[in-house]
Amino acid sequence: MHNDHDHETIRHGDRAPACNMVIFGGGGDLTKRLLMPALYNLSRTGLLPEHFSLIGVDRLELTNEAFRLQIEEALRAFGNDKHYAQKLDEHHLQNLLSRITYLQGDFSDPACYARLNDRLQSNAAAEATGENVVFYLAVAARFFAGIVDQLGASGLVTEGPNRWRRVVVEKPFGHDVESAKALNSQLRKSVAERQIYRMDHFLGKETVQNIMLMRFANGIFEPLWNREHIDHVQITVAETVGVERRAGFYETTGALRDMVPNHIFQLLALVGMEPPAAFTADAIRTEKTKVLTAVHPVVAATDSVRGQYAAGSRDEQPLRGYRAEDGVAPASMTETYTALKLQIDNWRWAGVPFYLRTGKALSKRNSEIYIQFKRPPLSLFKDTATEALTPNALVLKLQPDEGAQLSFGAKIPGPTISIGQVHMDFHYGDYFQNAPSTGYETLIYDCMIGDATLFQRSDSVIAGWEIVEPLLKYWANDATAPLAFYPAGSDGPAESEALLQQSGRSWRPVTV
Ligand code: BG6
Repeated sequence: MHNDHDHETIRHGDRAPACNMVIFGGGGDLTKRLLMPALYNLSRTGLLPEHFSLIGVDRLELTNEAFRLQIEEALRAFGNDKHYAQKLDEHHLQNLLSRITYLQGDFSDPACYARLNDRLQSNAAAEATGENVVFYLAVAARFFAGIVDQLGASGLVTEGPNRWRRVVVEKPFGHDVESAKALNSQLRKSVAERQIYRMDHFLGKETVQNIMLMRFANGIFEPLWNREHIDHVQITVAETVGVERRAGFYETTGALRDMVPNHIFQLLALVGMEPPAAFTADAIRTEKTKVLTAVHPVVAATDSVRGQYAAGSRDEQPLRGYRAEDGVAPASMTETYTALKLQIDNWRWAGVPFYLRTGKALSKRNSEIYIQFKRPPLSLFKDTATEALTPNALVLKLQPDEGAQLSFGAKIPGPTISIGQVHMDFHYGDYFQNAPSTGYETLIYDCMIGDATLFQRSDSVIAGWEIVEPLLKYWANDATAPLAFYPAGSDGPAESEALLQQSGRSWRPVTV
């Protein structure tokens, strides 16, 4: 993948160039839980710029020391997390902390941006960090446009020779087609499209990046990757967590907006795209957008399921229903689960259904892409009808299991001819040493070196919203639109099975 060539060219794996990073929402959860650990990991692996400064901007009155202490605590907690089990390296910890300062300010106050400008200039002089800046919007979506307006008005996003300015925007990018277009136009008043890095953290996951590698770095998959050989595709992103303490956000968002037009459509695009003409950000993103624009908008009444978890249990522990969670309205119609059937109207995929499902409070955390191949045209084995042959399947395992599995039939040893289902299994851990990571390392590093491949371009964001728009309207406006309940800790509502049964197919169990 190559970075844009407006500025210096940096090869992947080289230390990132001198730059500054400004995090709006510096005191927030995202900064502490993910961004700082990712920056620490970049320091540990030698990719953080040699000349680097980080300014956390937030509303609270805090000294630099107090802010650094908060970050240090967060990093130490992260170092103790079994997920990232690796002893925290004091040198890299102190190295990162020494570059951090804090700036108190109100995001809507022009004076905040004037002070930020002064701080950036004094850092550039004192630390040789230069003029390059990544502005990271780790704030609620309602602040995105206002902050970028102010950055524009204060000249902070103006570029020049040896001076790039980039803006990272977290999700959600709008809440429907119109609002996403409006946000785009708002941002474009101050910054060019190439300066905008729209974050989808799924694209930072190694297993997600591997989808394209699997397809295009091997000769054996691509010839089969089409309607001639593939019967259907299932994309599952199952979570065990419920709404937790996010009811305020989730009640107005729901599973569809939270997961589908962004994360799940990125997975669909990676599975469905054509080979790009080159391995560059724009060529890859063009192919991803092309496949999304070929997806037929959801046929709301027949090809979708809206679900919500009711009381249930997991491992014999009782679990509350969604409506009983803190901050949730007692008669809430918000979906915590959704399943969709989609058709892609193009030469490669016509007639191959793509089934997607995602939900909270399910039986198991499991994200995977299941690709079922067509059965052989006839059975040569007289005791086994063609329909009885189990079809071949390729499962791309994204998380928490990481790898791939290919299933096929083999002869069960013995004097008769009978066929058993066997699996070839690849586990990442068996081959590669997994460096502890949050998934944000690649994305922050890519932004610093100007490689936008793993960020969403505006056309693909809009294409995603266009696919789900009929469903958003149906659920919002049609009082007869059903809501299916499922017990927390289960595989989802029974109605979801019906979506596949119509055509004699069935979901792969969430817990396998
Ligand atoms: C976020 C959603 O974007 O992705 C959350 O807002 C969801 O609701 C999360 O839990 C899932 O991400 P991950 O990396 O934990 O699978």
